[in-house]
Amino acid sequence: MNKAIERVLVLNGPNLNLLGFREPELYGKQSLDDINEELVVLSQELGIELKIFQSNHEGALIDRIHDERKWANAIIINPGALTHYSYALRDALVSVRIPVIEVHLSNVHARESFRHTSVISPITVGQIVGLGSVGYRLALRALTEPEVGGF
Ligand code: DQA
Repeated sequence: MNKAIERVLVLNGPNLNLLGFREPELYGKQSLDDINEELVVLSQELGIELKIFQSNHEGALIDRIHDERKWANAIIINPGALTHYSYALRDALVSVRIPVIEVHLSNVHARESFRHTSVISPITVGQIVGLGSVGYRLALRALTEPEVGGF
């Protein structure tokens, strides 16, 4: 029997606190609070509990992953630029053995070449890129599908 997803940790990395102000042509006009609000509404519809956390510090994200390892059934993460080089973040995600979906607002594959590599994606269930804030909500919906969330 598949275990239903009940508790999801949503993480956002460096500079995502500036959403709405930061390069809106790439990342959209919504603030992170706006995006989170929409995600909370959807989580209530789906009967999923969320904890949402943003940090500009790699270690703070890692500490949060460790701290929530017994609580979270799944993690949705936009690691920001840490995506492209943080082996420490990747190791933390592997260590806790919680399934991960990686989200990027922009289409990283259509941008600078350093953004084409994710050191995180090989250890994820899947990656959603380029769909703006919709990506977070798709990730949450995906976790309710047995093929994705039935870990
Ligand atoms: C991003 C893409 C990263 O390359 C960038 O460093 C970010 C945002 C995105 O959501 O598109 O901070 O993760």
